[in-house]
Amino acid sequence: MATKHILIVPGDGIGQEVTAVGKKVLDKIAARFGHTFTYDEALVGHAAIEATGNPLPDETLTKMRASDAILFGAVGHPKYDNDPSAKVRPEQGLLKMRKELGLYANLRPIKLFDELLDASSIKPEILKGADILFFRELTGDIYFGDKGRKNNGDTAFDIAEYSRFEVERIARKAFEAARTRRKKLCSVDKANVIETSRLWREVIQKIAPEYPDIEVEHQFVDATAMLLIKDPRRFDVVVTANLFGDILTDEASQIAGSMGMLASASIGDGTGVYEPIHGSAHDITGKGVANPLASILSAALLLDISFGMKAESDAVIHAVDQVLKAGFRTRDIANAQTPADMIKGTDAIGEEVLNRI
Ligand code: IPM
Ligand code: MG
Repeated sequence: MATKHILIVPGDGIGQEVTAVGKKVLDKIAARFGHTFTYDEALVGHAAIEATGNPLPDETLTKMRASDAILFGAVGHPKYDNDPSAKVRPEQGLLKMRKELGLYANLRPIKLFDELLDASSIKPEILKGADILFFRELTGDIYFGDKGRKNNGDTAFDIAEYSRFEVERIARKAFEAARTRRKKLCSVDKANVIETSRLWREVIQKIAPEYPDIEVEHQFVDATAMLLIKDPRRFDVVVTANLFGDILTDEASQIAGSMGMLASASIGDGTGVYEPIHGSAHDITGKGVANPLASILSAALLLDISFGMKAESDAVIHAVDQVLKAGFRTRDIANAQTPADMIKGTDAIGEEVLNRI
C-alpha cells in the first residue's frame, strides 16, 4: 500500500476529455489495490495562455515538481497553426516542461492488440506480432538549438546540437531496455550527412561493447521510415534523436492501428510525465467521441514506471484488452464490420474498462 500524489494536466482540446477517463482508471486502481492517490490539477498550453498569458505558468511548474507523477493530456489550438507569426504558442508549454523537468527520454511503445489487426491500413500478415519500443531523445536536437532569422527575415535557421553526454544517457536507457526484451537495438541517424548524427553513431559504437548481449544495428532515418512499413517485426528497441523520433513514431502509430491507442512516458531527472501521443484534435473536441484508451494506457505506464506497480499496470492493460476482445470500439478503431451498438463514446468505453479492473 502506497501513498502517491498525481498531477493531472489535461491541457487542450480532447486532452480534457481523455485525461478525465485516465484519472478515473487511476482512482479505480487505488481502490482495488488499497493505495491512496491524491490529485491536483494544473494548466498548460492554450488553456494556460487564455488564463495567464503563459503556456507553462510558474504555478504549473511548481506543482509538477512537487508531484510523484504527471498524467498529461495534449496541447495545441488550430488558431496558431496558420499563424506562423504568433510569438506565444501552446507547444512552447510542452517543450519548456520537457526541458525544465529534464525529461530527456521519451518512451513510445508500439504494440498492436490482436483485436485491432484490421484497424490498421497495413496488411495484417505484415503486422501480426509487431512490438517496438521507441526511445526518442526529448530535450536536445533542432528542437532546442538557436533559431532565428537573418537577411531582413528572408532567411531562417535552426541549429541542431547534441553533446556526447546527451547521446550517451539516452543510449544507455535504450540498451538497458533491450536487455529486458528481445535484446536488439536499432540506432537511427543520418550519419551520411549530418554531423550530430556522426557523433550519435560514434557514441553508440563506443558504449556497445559494454552490452555484449545486445545485437546493435545502425540504420539511416530514411531507410527506417521504409522498413517500419515493409517489415515492422524486425525492430525491437529503437533509439533516435528528437526530430527523427517525432516523425518515426507518428508513422509507427499506424502499426498499432490508430494514434488513439498510443501512450508515452517521458522520463529523466525529475517527475515523469505520461501522455497519449495523439494531439488536441480540435475537430472532435467536445463531441464525446475521442478514444481515451491512449490516456488509460498512459496511466498504466505511469503505474509501472514511476510507481513500480507492475501488477496494477498489468491490470489496466488486461482490462483494455478485455474490452477490445468483447468487441467494443471507439470510432477511430471501428471498421465497416463493427456493429453500430458496439461503437462507444469516450466515457462509455472508459466505463467498460473500469468495470473490468
Ligand atoms: C509530440 C508532438 C510535439 C513534438 C509537438 C506538439 C510540439 O508532436 O509530442 O510528438 O513535436 O514533440
Ligand atoms: Mg509528434
